Amino acid sequence: MDNPYAPIEARILDVADENSAIKTLVLKPDQPLVFEPGQFVMVGMPGVGESPFGVSSSCFDKDSFAVSVQVQPHGKNTMALHEAKPGQTALVRGPFGNCYPMDYFKGREVYVVGGGVGMAPMRAVLLALLHEADQYKKIVLRYGARNPELRMYKDLCLSWETDPRIDVTYTVDVADESWRHNVGVVTSIMREDDIEDVPNAVAVGCGPPIMLRFMVPLLLKMGFKPEHMYFSMEKNMSCGMGMCGHCRIGNYYVCKDGPVFTYDQIRDFPDAWT
Ligand code: FES
Repeated sequence: MDNPYAPIEARILDVADENSAIKTLVLKPDQPLVFEPGQFVMVGMPGVGESPFGVSSSCFDKDSFAVSVQVQPHGKNTMALHEAKPGQTALVRGPFGNCYPMDYFKGREVYVVGGGVGMAPMRAVLLALLHEADQYKKIVLRYGARNPELRMYKDLCLSWETDPRIDVTYTVDVADESWRHNVGVVTSIMREDDIEDVPNAVAVGCGPPIMLRFMVPLLLKMGFKPEHMYFSMEKNMSCGMGMCGHCRIGNYYVCKDGPVFTYDQIRDFPDAWT
């Protein structure tokens, strides 16, 4: 995008319910939107506003992209996006922010941990990994949600259960009678023998701060290096362009310097973990 302030039009191709609070919108922009896993876009309905969303689709899909929208109480734009129908036009700016160093991940075991709506950017990472699965030594997903209904990408997660290219384990905090997997927080499904060559492996995570707080010591105990632990940080973003200061973590702006940070970069900033 030449002018980062000027939105482009994007036709809504699909709106899918993930759960009672989240819908995934697939959009076809008027101009090609080239992004990398981890980056975010500003999406809004005309005349309503715009909000930042991590792209949740594969960077190898060149015609369209997807964002998963959690409706916010009093959030006019997220409500308008939830009410949008295929065929309508949304406005898009971006992509913004940095991305995961996928080339650096090549040849390594990649340990992806997602929690709650944090699965959205993780989905973009996983789809990119699986697109070139033979380039990575191992692809692991550990995904936790509060309950079975709140899980995102249910069909995709189901297909991964039988996909030999990826090692998945799912958990929920509170199960129902339909649940066939683990019950407990996401750290309860992270085990030291998940990874064989941990000094060279990389961990990738996104989820609520409380989850990251518990996940970090476990990743360190497993033997991951601080500079090999990558997190998509979710802070209240507003302008998305380093202007408003809403998204500070220590010396960083999440929107400009992130949203992807290594643990090494942010370990000493308390506001990263609250
Ligand atoms: S969202 Fe405004 S500075 Fe980051």
